[in-house]
Amino acid sequence: MKQQHELILILDFGSQYTRLIARRVREAGVYSEVVPFHVTLEEIRARRPSGVILSGGPDSVYREGAPRLDPALLHLGIPVLGICYGMQLMTHELGGTVEPAPQREYGPAVVEVSDGPSPLFRGLAGRLNVWASHGDRVLQLPSGFVATAGSENAPFAAVERVEQRWFGVQFHPEVVHTPRGGEILRNFLIEICGCRGDWSLANFVDEAVDEVRRQVGTGSVLCGLSGGVDSAVMALLLHRALADRLICIFVDNGLLRKGEAEQVVRDFRERYRLPIRHVDAAERFLTPLRGVEDPETKRKIIGATFIEVFEREADAVGKVDFLAQGTIYPDRIESASVKGPSATIKTHHNVGGLPERMRLKLVEPLKDLFKDEVREVGKRLGLDPAFVGRHPFPGPGLAVRVIGEVTAERVRLLQEADAVFLEELRAEGLYDQVAQAFAVLLPIRTVGVMGDERTYEHVLALRAVVTEDFMTADWARLPASFLARVSGRIVNQVRGINRVVYDITSKPPGTIEWE
Ligand code: XMP
Repeated sequence: MKQQHELILILDFGSQYTRLIARRVREAGVYSEVVPFHVTLEEIRARRPSGVILSGGPDSVYREGAPRLDPALLHLGIPVLGICYGMQLMTHELGGTVEPAPQREYGPAVVEVSDGPSPLFRGLAGRLNVWASHGDRVLQLPSGFVATAGSENAPFAAVERVEQRWFGVQFHPEVVHTPRGGEILRNFLIEICGCRGDWSLANFVDEAVDEVRRQVGTGSVLCGLSGGVDSAVMALLLHRALADRLICIFVDNGLLRKGEAEQVVRDFRERYRLPIRHVDAAERFLTPLRGVEDPETKRKIIGATFIEVFEREADAVGKVDFLAQGTIYPDRIESASVKGPSATIKTHHNVGGLPERMRLKLVEPLKDLFKDEVREVGKRLGLDPAFVGRHPFPGPGLAVRVIGEVTAERVRLLQEADAVFLEELRAEGLYDQVAQAFAVLLPIRTVGVMGDERTYEHVLALRAVVTEDFMTADWARLPASFLARVSGRIVNQVRGINRVVYDITSKPPGTIEWE
């Protein structure tokens, strides 16, 4: 697929916004991929990109050991757009100078676009609101360059050397706080790189179906359903391509939200007509979790148990040729980041080691898509929008939300309380305004009073966060009256919980989950 489409390569110099650049480029209809900054020239040439974007990054170009650019890249005849650090690097490599700015600029800024006919600013003139995030600035331009926009703080807020098709912006066109940034990027793609914009999610479905058929031939595919969006979208896509040569296995680990396992099975059988084997394995998971309190040990046990159960089911199915895996694009680029393989990849994002153990070839139809794109594809494949819009749910499920030892009774308590919280969020129209919301059952008990009786029961914590990318997050400012209602309902309805607290920690320093 990648080879047939126009392609923009984004060299990652470590900016938190690199992925956003890729998403914005795709939104403009041009397929784009993020590659590490040290990608070789041969690799770049082989991919035949229509243009290259150099991302921002936290470093200073004059610092020893800062990520560098092979200057030869600038002479391949491919248009280049440098963003922030990318622009500084480009000017530095071409003989300009970069220095610490007298005043660091973080946040909203205004730049004045010059009158000249810059193709990057076609249709844009005058003052532009932009998002700045830099401590350095370009002091002297390399020869042949001109400034096309400036601000008080950064006289060279945008620069170019048109005949070489070298462009740079000191601000971030990819973030929403640069309202007209999309037009700037589009100008780069269409006006400068000459792209037609031949990529869209509408084509994606047809192309992915063709690709799966080509890859699988007359073979059959085994697919694990988790109840989450990625695996559901993957299963529908594979079903469209392969019909009954797709076998779905749903391992119910007993650690899902209340009623969810039943709903997934019912929906997939009745609504989407997917043949699915439902394995009720709650006991298999709870038994080895007995007495275990450490979060990472819980994760390992759940991962290993999943593999055991899945393998046994797969044996029962008979011979299959491929295993489908719901890897998505962010899972892959996380490991290709500037710092090398990132420690943040979670073991449960894939069925670690299964394909090798089972000697199966892999099918990964979603491996090039961002999460939002997976959701969009899901809708196009007919998935219920409410299902597609569900908050993310961790692979190890409620086991990491029952703090301390996981028992059937504690899971049940948590399921009941969590269901009340989510029901109220939906009823109040708040569900879609937060990125993730859930309850956490704490292993301590506190004293309370109900009627004339003293109680001594569990504490429950509520967590709700807003976030774009789940790498950083803020706690949601849910209305006090809403929290009061949820707390009241939980304490009254869920026997065993007599106190409710609300988590007001952002990430960092906290994480979203408690374990
Ligand atoms: P943290 O807690 O790291 O969570 O801030 C970030 C996002 O990742 C989810 N998460 C997991 N997902 N397996 C998963 O599949 C895991 O072990 C896991 N731990 C956290 C979390 O729900 C949030 O969306």
